[in-house]
Amino acid sequence: MEPVRRKRYLKALGLDTWRLRAESPSPAVAERGEAAAVTAAAHVRAVMASAAPAPVVREVPADWAGLRAMVRDCQACKLCATRTQTVFGVGPENAPLMIVGEGPGADEDAQGEPFVGRAGKLLDEMLRSIGRSRHENVFIANVVKCRPPGNRDPEADEVEACRPYLDRQIELVKPRLIVALGRVAAQRLLGTDLPLSRLRGPMYRYGPQQTPVFVTYHPAYLLRSPREKAKSWEDLKQIHRYMATVS
Ligand code: URA
Ligand code: SF4
Repeated sequence: MEPVRRKRYLKALGLDTWRLRAESPSPAVAERGEAAAVTAAAHVRAVMASAAPAPVVREVPADWAGLRAMVRDCQACKLCATRTQTVFGVGPENAPLMIVGEGPGADEDAQGEPFVGRAGKLLDEMLRSIGRSRHENVFIANVVKCRPPGNRDPEADEVEACRPYLDRQIELVKPRLIVALGRVAAQRLLGTDLPLSRLRGPMYRYGPQQTPVFVTYHPAYLLRSPREKAKSWEDLKQIHRYMATVS
């Protein structure tokens, strides 16, 4: 990692005036963390193995143009009634890294692009610190393509209705790694209701392509909870290291 980039990221997080804690936790802490992570991974594997195959609700085009058109006009769940427009996703169609967020907020609903508000600015800084951007090498999408009113969490029926679109995007992009941002994205991809704190850490796999999945904090959460920013930086470094091994 270039020191300049690291500095820029830390500044974006408001961490440049902090003293980062020692890089490696004490052995006892590391052990506890690992044990919890292994348990969560086993739980997720069990849930995924026991889950009945998701019923195919409707046929979704297997090409980008068809998929974009179908999402643009979609009325498969009640979120279509309150959206300004759908937010499909952004980035190179063959990006090696895919970011999955929760759903559009007010800014995204107005502009038709994911992560363009305050959290989006932070996400861009985080990506920049590891040499990545939506213009070059990251595809960014959300669990639901329409804004939940008042920025509430998407409901289970909405997540299910939108499932085939995200699945098709993953299938078409064929990323080397998916990063799930926050609880909603992590639970959707891993088919679990465990809290984010239990899911962060191990590498999971998703879908027929068994794409590796890594879970980290949502930038909107980081804006509210500065204490977690140092851990987010550790996650980013891990993502950067992993991508170096697969590209
Ligand atoms: N938060 C998300 O999860 N997605 C967006 O696109 C914007 C904010
Ligand atoms: Fe369709 Fe997804 Fe929008 Fe619901 S959230 S209307 S399923 S695009």
